[in-house]
Amino acid sequence: MKQDLIVILDLGSTQNTVLARDIRALGVYSEIHPHDITVEELQALPNVKGIILNGGENRIVDGQAVEVRPEIYELGYPMISVDYPQSGCEVRLEALPEREALEKFLFRDCKAEANWNMKNFIEDQVELIRQQVGDRKVLLALSGGVDSSVVAAMLIRAIGEQLTCVHVNHGLMRKNESESVVKVFRDELHANLIYVDAVERFLGKLAGVADPEQKRKIIGGEFIRVFEEEARKLDGIDFLGQGTIYPDIIESGTKTAKMVKSHHNVGGLPEDLEFELVEPLKQLFKDEVRACGVELGLPHDMVYRQPFPGPGLGVRCLGAITRDRLEAVRESDAILREEFARAGLDKKVWQYFTVVPDFKSVGMKNNARVFEYMVIIRAINTVDAMTASVEKVDWEVLERITNRILAEVETVNRVCYDMSPKPPSTIEFE
Ligand code: XMP
Repeated sequence: MKQDLIVILDLGSTQNTVLARDIRALGVYSEIHPHDITVEELQALPNVKGIILNGGENRIVDGQAVEVRPEIYELGYPMISVDYPQSGCEVRLEALPEREALEKFLFRDCKAEANWNMKNFIEDQVELIRQQVGDRKVLLALSGGVDSSVVAAMLIRAIGEQLTCVHVNHGLMRKNESESVVKVFRDELHANLIYVDAVERFLGKLAGVADPEQKRKIIGGEFIRVFEEEARKLDGIDFLGQGTIYPDIIESGTKTAKMVKSHHNVGGLPEDLEFELVEPLKQLFKDEVRACGVELGLPHDMVYRQPFPGPGLGVRCLGAITRDRLEAVRESDAILREEFARAGLDKKVWQYFTVVPDFKSVGMKNNARVFEYMVIIRAINTVDAMTASVEKVDWEVLERITNRILAEVETVNRVCYDMSPKPPSTIEFE
């Protein structure tokens, strides 16, 4: 193994990720694990150089203070306790360690080396995946989003042909998105890729359904069914690859932190799919996942794409989805992305997309009255997607986009710009 590891045990701190990132900023790889990790689990982690017990606000659960297993103290690792009165460890700090104290602990007490970088991380993960999987087979749902793409590239490097990727085209992808998944993974990385054209199936199930939550449920549920059907056609699969990343785990709730929202890749899978999980990115933050993708040789566009919701364009084709409006969303989104890239806004704006509502307005085309749809442009900036502000897009850029949409997208005669921050609006419309 290339990297030294500092283990942070979560004893109810809200600062675990800050601490993990502080340690990584000093060049040492760190992972966050639950307080009740067993001796065997801890000893199975490679190259552990030291342990930080990270207590805090949420340490009391159901009237009881969260504790590590007493045997952990017997293992002889250098330990410090942060914001955590009592305990058998050597050094005690009252608050999040200052940089100097942290450096002393890492480099003097633990004798860790600053050898955390993406190249080493990938080499270590490749070895760990090979150890876990052996000569058996892994299945992966490859949506083409950043996380699943990076995990696919990592698994291809580690186990090549033992990986089977399934890409489900639900008809709600952006323009050329499925084609690009096939091109990159099948043609360039030579992945074993099953492409499932489920467009008619999804649009059929969604026909006439106008309620946003109902639409989301249908898309999520159908996706799992299609994936299961493909999985059952394959023989001898023992593992499921997943692009789980650390924020997914945090947001879905740890033993000491409350749930924010449940993520489909943490606990949302059917129980009768009896696979062991392979999740090589689960200790990474989003920026690190992107860096990992670049190091694995994925195209820049694939790795630096903006967030895209699981239900895809389905939540941007408002109300009951119809094919003409879905095409209008897809085409206007492609124009918006092209023009934002041309104006350099793709590197500045956090998320930008178009939506098409399910009502028409009156207009004039070729001297005749038309009654057609409208496109709404949304462009927002945010740090964590919990609040968002509207990008003040240059008027000329907006004019160019508007003119192109009106000229190139059939069935559209009006373009609007959404001025609403979050809150009270959400980023997506549905
Ligand atoms: P809202 O609309 O809640 O969106 O302000 C916040 C962020 O989350 C994205 N989003 C999703 N991402 N699956 C996802 O992976 C989803 O179902 C989903 N719904 C919304 C949204 O694009 C925005 O970045």
